[in-house]
Amino acid sequence: MEFSEKEIAPLSSIEVWEDDVLLRYPEEDAPKKAKEEYRNYDNPERDTVREFYRLNHKFQTFDFVKEKQAEFLKFNKAEMPIWEAFDFLNTLVDDSDPDTSLDQWQHLLQTSEAIRADGHPDWFVLTGLLHDMGKVLCLFGEAQWAVVGDTFPVGCQHSDRIVYAEYFEANPDAHDSKFNTKYGVYEPNCGLKNVNMSWGHDEYLYQMVKDYLPEEALYMIRYHSFYSQHRENAYEHLMDEHDHAMFEWVKKFNPYDLYSKLPTPPDTQALKPYYEELIKKYLPSTLKF
Ligand SMILES: [Fe+2]
Ligand SMILES: [Fe+2]
Repeated sequence: MEFSEKEIAPLSSIEVWEDDVLLRYPEEDAPKKAKEEYRNYDNPERDTVREFYRLNHKFQTFDFVKEKQAEFLKFNKAEMPIWEAFDFLNTLVDDSDPDTSLDQWQHLLQTSEAIRADGHPDWFVLTGLLHDMGKVLCLFGEAQWAVVGDTFPVGCQHSDRIVYAEYFEANPDAHDSKFNTKYGVYEPNCGLKNVNMSWGHDEYLYQMVKDYLPEEALYMIRYHSFYSQHRENAYEHLMDEHDHAMFEWVKKFNPYDLYSKLPTPPDTQALKPYYEELIKKYLPSTLKF
């Protein structure tokens, strides 16, 4: 399928999506003032977010996901050491909003540092550092709505607890009897390992690193944008016991992803030796993209 420029990049940058997630799920114990600010958020970017979800919900069909899996899970686009990959990811610069947005690297580092400060295991820290690496998909020319955005199961009925669920009306799967029933192509409680998720940076990175990290870390990577489950519990009918146990980790991870912005950015140079060791401990010298 070919998409126009407008369809590829409805947002001024992909961070606009995450800013909006933060509005939807403000920090529980955020100071009252901060919460007021969230509520008062009024911005023309709101409309671009709506357009982003309209496109996401329309085009993320079962067949689209299969097509993207076939294209990207060959991992034949590039091969590079992980530090080079961070630099590559960082070429995704948000020039629309220099005051409020962090570059990709700062978001990863702040997430991992917040996890480390709370004394979690080193693989959890590494998960924080890696979790958005799949966003390099944008640099391969993929549409924003096929890289970021809430993820959801494809091949079965779309939950009304997915943000802007009304836009699924334009998704052909919603009118296909193979796909539009509660279980669709799946069996009750078949386990998420048997479920295809909408395509984006979560699944892509999961597939890239699945041989190297503990399973808890892999769940955090694979489902960190699956808000309709980890925040809304809308897909328990597809999950098995093991998924439920592992989702405790997905839930543990989410606040670090959303709320770890620090006023002063961590010092990359000072932290580099620690992270070099950590990366060496778990990952091969290069990753295939
Ligand atoms: Fe993410
Ligand atoms: Fe993130």
